[in-house]
Amino acid sequence: MPYLSPALNVMTAAARKAGRGLIRDFGELENLQVSLKGPADFVTAADQRTERILIQELSKARPGYRFLVEEAGAIEGPDKSHRFIIDPLDGTTNFMHGVPHFAISIALERDAQLVSAVVYNPVVDEMYTAEKNHGAYLNSKRLRVAARAHLREALIATGMPYHGREGHEGFLQELAPMMAATAGVRRYGSAALDLAYVAAGRFDGFWERGLAAWDVAAGILLVREAGGQISDLAGGEQALQTGNILAANDKLHPQLLKLLRTSGTA
Ligand code: IPD
Ligand code: CA
Ligand code: CA
Repeated sequence: MPYLSPALNVMTAAARKAGRGLIRDFGELENLQVSLKGPADFVTAADQRTERILIQELSKARPGYRFLVEEAGAIEGPDKSHRFIIDPLDGTTNFMHGVPHFAISIALERDAQLVSAVVYNPVVDEMYTAEKNHGAYLNSKRLRVAARAHLREALIATGMPYHGREGHEGFLQELAPMMAATAGVRRYGSAALDLAYVAAGRFDGFWERGLAAWDVAAGILLVREAGGQISDLAGGEQALQTGNILAANDKLHPQLLKLLRTSGTA
């Protein structure tokens, strides 16, 4: 059984409740009211509703905790040591296009350290959880990153910049050697699930630039608790702060970092 701290209990319950709503909305995509937040960055009514449910549920169970959420931004509270970091819908573009690959991502920080994490894909009912020093789980199964040691066998996930985002040229410079060196590169469209899949050993590695804290906070703890390595793309500890992230097992991580650093952009 997964290790469920009291905080994780609260977080998984909130994710399930919000996930039920997301599934309903996914089924009724045609009736959704959709507004444009900016180029290629859609905000759906579902997105905002999901965020409201999560904030409501979590603050009912943990009054006073602060929040950092994608839509509403920073929400202050009297408890200065705890903060939830939430992406209510990671994989918005997939969701909008009827592609069933998206997730709710919730992380809890205590004194600026990630201590609990939930990434939930409601379509396939996959609940990824991690608690600091207590491991990572997919539903009831303990997770361990893949053991592959050679790039030529490795399946690597990434996120590529799209319309309205910077770094198109730089991404192509990184992609070319990655394609040549590995068994394949995937762009699935949800950074939170990319990291959860690394924790689950489905992907051997993941890199992306320019992500937000809510995209990666929960996934970082999942990967660490599954025995994987996380760094920023300079090899440092600032993945959450910079949004530039590399995740892999300890054998592939240095190889991937070297490849990215010599590809001309890192
Ligand atoms: C996006 C997804 C995507 C990544 C983007 C993110 P959103 O989040 O995680 O995989 O490539 O950079 O913005 O907009 O779907 O919450
Ligand atoms: Ca996101
Ligand atoms: Ca989002």
